[in-house]
Amino acid sequence: MLVPRHVAIIMDGNGRWAHERALPRAAGHRAGIKPVRLCVEECSRRGVEVLTLFAFSSENWQRPPQEVGVLMQLFLEALDREVEELSSKGVALSFIGDRTALAPELKARMAGVEARTGGNRGLKLVVAIGYGGRWDIVEAARRLARACQAGELDPAAIDEERFARELALGELPDPDLFIRTGGDQRISNFLLWNLAYAEFWFTETFWPAFGSDEIGQAFAAFATRERRFGKTAAQLKADAC
Ligand code: IPE
Ligand code: IPE
Ligand code: MG
Repeated sequence: MLVPRHVAIIMDGNGRWAHERALPRAAGHRAGIKPVRLCVEECSRRGVEVLTLFAFSSENWQRPPQEVGVLMQLFLEALDREVEELSSKGVALSFIGDRTALAPELKARMAGVEARTGGNRGLKLVVAIGYGGRWDIVEAARRLARACQAGELDPAAIDEERFARELALGELPDPDLFIRTGGDQRISNFLLWNLAYAEFWFTETFWPAFGSDEIGQAFAAFATRERRFGKTAAQLKADAC
């Protein structure tokens, strides 16, 4: 079965999962940690190279301060609790997103985890916190503009490959499979550039209830997709010969 090199997931529906159970939204966020573990295990087992998880968007800063606080606290706790285990499984953890608004304590913890697990050779787990696809593109453009202004880069040398290298995912391959739970079928400012040719898979299931059976369904669906990248089906057949 064809396995995606890179899987990107919008983990959505925590609030509604909690609401259905008459629980506070925070309980939904807390219950969202278990499926993260599960996805890491499944992706490692299936030979996926990169797993990118959308944990907090640039727009999520607009949520009530109390909910933002709960989420930030949860990130801190989860980092402290899970990192040992992840590292023992060879997972290399990194973060993408604008860190400027994050608490110094969380920033320090994130940098520490990246330094500690960066050399691991297993699954590359990328967690998007304070991330926005538009922010990512603007940051890349600004860095390139600065390099041009400093005389280090010729504007004529900026092509798609050079531009992509400046984006948060850098040298990592583009996502092949994009999954969104929670029933909404939109990108919500996730990896706008990198999702150009990803295969999309949606489920109504809320993130806290996402399980290995459904991951299996997403992978099975991916394996049946014909990725033409603009070519015709006949060309693909000819290329394969
Ligand atoms: C996803 O679940 C988690 C974050 C965005 C941080 P939501 O909190 O968006 O849950 P719903 O969509 O309101 O159910
Ligand atoms: C997207 O979910 C962001 C994350 C899952 C972190 P949202 O719940 O914030 O997206 P919208 O607002 O419904 O588009
Ligand atoms: Mg949501």
